[in-house]
Amino acid sequence: MPSYVITGVSRGIGWEFLRQISANPNNQVIGLVRDKKATDKRVSEELAGRTNINILEADLSDYDAIKNSAAATSEITGGSLDYLIANAANMSKWDAYDPIGVLAENPKELEKQLINSTTVNIVGNINLFKLYIPLLLKGQAKKVIALTSGHADLDAINQVGIEPAALYSISKAGMNIAVGKFNVQYKKDGILFFSLSPGVVDVGSQADATPEQLQKLGAMAAGFMRAYPDWKGPAQPEDSVKDMLAVIEKASIEDGFGGAFLSHHGDKHWL
Ligand SMILES: NC(=O)c1ccc[n+]([C@@H]2O[C@H](COP(=O)([O-])OP(=O)(O)OC[C@H]3O[C@@H](n4cnc5c(N)ncnc54)[C@H](OP(=O)(O)O)[C@@H]3O)[C@@H](O)[C@H]2O)c1
Repeated sequence: MPSYVITGVSRGIGWEFLRQISANPNNQVIGLVRDKKATDKRVSEELAGRTNINILEADLSDYDAIKNSAAATSEITGGSLDYLIANAANMSKWDAYDPIGVLAENPKELEKQLINSTTVNIVGNINLFKLYIPLLLKGQAKKVIALTSGHADLDAINQVGIEPAALYSISKAGMNIAVGKFNVQYKKDGILFFSLSPGVVDVGSQADATPEQLQKLGAMAAGFMRAYPDWKGPAQPEDSVKDMLAVIEKASIEDGFGGAFLSHHGDKHWL
């Protein structure tokens, strides 16, 4: 029975990973969330009868909570884990619209926000990887997938001219490096680590944006369209997750995926 741990399954892309992977009753799916009660309720309402789902509580900024989740996972799976999907992320709206020079006009808030995003997206995921390695070593698939973003691609930033999301991008670039370092250390043990971007996916996060903020996003989208003329706008979570699961399935250390930074197409085509 292949086992999966997925972080951030309360909503968005994480929920869709949970929904699609648990549709196969042969998969054992463990979802990590910050509010177990709320996600248990959603699972019972929308995925009723799926006995292959377990929800555990762990905030990625809480080392002991991640450690406890690994122990609880071990109890559920009998000590092993096949796939770890590090999906959860701090995605503050604070840096989502303005360029870095504007953000830096408020240095105290900038420092606070950068610490928050690096605490969760870099330190949290490093702790997550490390604490689940003993289980992964006993698994069959031995795959760790970290959800990243094309925002962390330096060439894309400069060529497309992407101004917003500076702090988020910095945290994802740092996470990509951590993934590479884990790959270098653990590929000899057969554990595949790689970073995978979902593309631009509509998870409803712009629902409360002001007209001025929407205009700034429109300018960024216009840049995307110039760089990627075939792009049709944000994808639905269902399609993005299908694409990512295909990449996850085919990825292997032997085929050079160790430490890679890839899109849902399995290449550097981010949209
Ligand atoms: N959507 C896109 O277009 C897009 C593009 C590129 C990359 N990505 C990446 O894809 C992944 C999923 O994004 P999404 O769009 O689905 O985002 P989302 O809808 O905002 O969901 C984020 C998830 O992360 C969880 N989370 C946030 N902070 C956490 C913490 N401190 N500890 C544990 N969990 C925490 C949230 O839990 P709560 O419900 O408790 O807040 C939620 O489940 C992220 O890694 C994101 O960077 C998304």
